[in-house]
Amino acid sequence: MIEYKKVTGNFDLKGKAAIVVGGGGGIGGSTAEMYARKGANVAIVDCKDNVEEVAKDLAEKFGVKTIGLKCDVTKQEEVDKTVAAVVDAFGEINILANMPGYVELESAEKIDIDVVERHIAINAVGVFRVCQAVANQMIKQGNGGKIVCITSQADFIAINKHVGYTMSKAALVGMIKVCALEWAAYGINVNGVAPTVVNTYMGDKAWQGKVKTDMIEAIPAHRFAETDEIAAAVLFLSCDESNMITGEDLVVDGGFTIK
Ligand SMILES: NC(=O)c1ccc[n+]([C@@H]2O[C@H](COP(=O)([O-])OP(=O)(O)OC[C@H]3O[C@@H](n4cnc5c(N)ncnc54)[C@H](O)[C@@H]3O)[C@@H](O)[C@H]2O)c1
Repeated sequence: MIEYKKVTGNFDLKGKAAIVVGGGGGIGGSTAEMYARKGANVAIVDCKDNVEEVAKDLAEKFGVKTIGLKCDVTKQEEVDKTVAAVVDAFGEINILANMPGYVELESAEKIDIDVVERHIAINAVGVFRVCQAVANQMIKQGNGGKIVCITSQADFIAINKHVGYTMSKAALVGMIKVCALEWAAYGINVNGVAPTVVNTYMGDKAWQGKVKTDMIEAIPAHRFAETDEIAAAVLFLSCDESNMITGEDLVVDGGFTIK
């Protein structure tokens, strides 16, 4: 059962233990900062080398406990070691923001199958690997938890040259629904946030020149999203204010998928 907790509208995370995978920058970096601002202790997990530095900055800025752990989500032993290290550091895990990501654009007739498989390995199987390891820890703890994964607007509509990415993110939406269904019994909410293009390294990589200006034109809000706007949706799905929402994929797209 996912319990009712009195809703204050404060979006408070004081004393919670959170993991942000993909926390080395972009949407993950903003999410980690938002969690820390709301009082959570935060583990920064990423395959990048900057994890300890990001964790240290966050602790200094917000006075919470942090830890930085380098981990490749395609490696089972690294994921298991990382989850164990977070439990060692914080005693428990209450929240998982699961947002590692990979994109390589190519038309469906030309894309290399290895590139398709890499999308699936990171964006779908890698994300599930972390969900499974963390959910097992949450189930052991016996007091529920929150899992939020970043999906994409590409779940809802076809976008040119996105076949590998879309296959991986559509798989993620299915995973979110099944995990939400099965883990509600343990008080665990599992949700997705589906952004439009966001101004990050990945957003810049995929959208340049004419495709960028055409895309901005096609978004009713007439701009790309900023990382804190996505982190705010993740925060909502990470606190008690959203206890009655599970298995959802919350679109944050400036209206792009209305049509
Ligand atoms: N930027 C966009 O336009 C956009 C739009 C929709 C969805 N998303 C999704 O948002 C999430 C965050 O992306 P972002 O835009 O902040 O880009 P980003 O490139 O800044 O962040 C992605 C992070 O994932 C990490 N990562 C990649 N492979 C990994 C692996 N194997 N193991 C561990 N970490 C790994 C990277 O090091 C990086 O820090 C991704 O899942 C992405 O697919 C992004």
